[in-house]
Amino acid sequence: MSADQPPEAAQPPPTRRLRHLFDGDETNVYNSEFCNLCAGTPGPDLLRRCVDIFEEATAHRMAHERKDAFLFQYGATDGPWDFREELSRFLSKRYDDQVNEDDLVLTCGASHGLQLILNSFIEPDGVIFVEEVTYMIAIAVFREFSGMKIVSVPFSDTGVVASELERLAREEKAKRGDRSTGKPFWAVFYSIPVYHNPTGVCTSQEVGAEVVRVAQSLGFLVACDDVYNLLHYGAGAAPRRLHSLERSLAPPAGAAGPRRRHVVSNGSFSKILAPGVRVGWLEAPADLVQQLRTSGILRSGGGVNSYTAGVICSALQLGLLDKHLDHLVATFRGRMRALCDALEAALPAGCSLHPARPAGGYFVWLRLPPGLDAEAVQRHARDTRRVSAFPGALFSPASASSAHGPAAGSSHLRLAIAFHDEQRLAAAARDLCSAIAELIQQRGDVLV
Ligand SMILES: Cc1ncc(COP(=O)(O)O)c(C=O)c1O
Repeated sequence: MSADQPPEAAQPPPTRRLRHLFDGDETNVYNSEFCNLCAGTPGPDLLRRCVDIFEEATAHRMAHERKDAFLFQYGATDGPWDFREELSRFLSKRYDDQVNEDDLVLTCGASHGLQLILNSFIEPDGVIFVEEVTYMIAIAVFREFSGMKIVSVPFSDTGVVASELERLAREEKAKRGDRSTGKPFWAVFYSIPVYHNPTGVCTSQEVGAEVVRVAQSLGFLVACDDVYNLLHYGAGAAPRRLHSLERSLAPPAGAAGPRRRHVVSNGSFSKILAPGVRVGWLEAPADLVQQLRTSGILRSGGGVNSYTAGVICSALQLGLLDKHLDHLVATFRGRMRALCDALEAALPAGCSLHPARPAGGYFVWLRLPPGLDAEAVQRHARDTRRVSAFPGALFSPASASSAHGPAAGSSHLRLAIAFHDEQRLAAAARDLCSAIAELIQQRGDVLV
């Protein structure tokens, strides 16, 4: 480099012309020579079905729009009423639990829902409690709220450790005292109670009830990321949402008058239709819905994604989404089985599916033997077998190991089932197992 050239950091970044999020290097999900098990998104075989769905739904919707063209007007802040009505019907049926139209607010997906929750409901210098391992990009969202403090809470095979949540929340609340700028909550607990990302864990009803009790008694919000709830592959009903659990719990002792509600459910069409549509919903108590209805940004913009919500409304009315979701559930059930069967047949001693084979969602959490670092496994599998999965420490807010020991998740890998077909998943699982076995053999200090 000559002296008059600007240093590299000051050079303009190279032009990026990506067609989609995963259109990156040779490990990208579309490379048939490499099996990438990182992406939590439906594959092209499933997304292709959206073409017919959207063609039919758009034609149906446009036939209505010829008269008043309401869908092309600034929308209602909480979303078109017919969309919310159809969505409440669809969700009530699929959850087997009443969802009220008036509790729903249209969003651009769960990530946007999370941003609305933090902006609108939580003190700007508030606290965000998170499960010890959690959706890694939610951690990035939280870091953008630089006035807020992130506190991670131990997590178990039945959900967060509620006694620890209570202890930490008491501690943080005592530190803050009563200061407030008038937002409804001083803190939020961000949770993924059903088919957790990355572990696949479902929060038990007992733990869920404890979480709600603690939130009520210490006055914080529980923001449930409910994006995987409808992807349930087991027999019987899907696990219940905390939002519904809260409704059925007795009021706290000594409560008088109408009870304040503390749980918001954050839903999305990304995992049950297509992430590119950028449509989701918040299901929230009346006072919080009202707060969103008066939000300056939502009012100024006339809600978000009104047009797409109108087309999805037609897809719901025509029963297209029900049919699509049935197909997704059947396909993902097969993919989950194929990956887990292949892993269970080939995993070296000391490895396990932890806590167990998930009965829904997108992810399998693979536990490695003590002493075997997940990042080393990921590199070895990538370089020698052309297969890749996310190392678990990515999902920890602490991220790197510290004086307190290794980061949560550092002896786990997260494998995603949604993108590839059964044959590729099974082959990738066998390759991954052989890479792990080889590494164990090379490293004498691994305890199996
Ligand atoms: C737990 C969780 N929440 C939210 C999202 C993103 O949702 P959306 O596409 O609706 O913003 C993901 C995507 O991977 C996720 O796993």
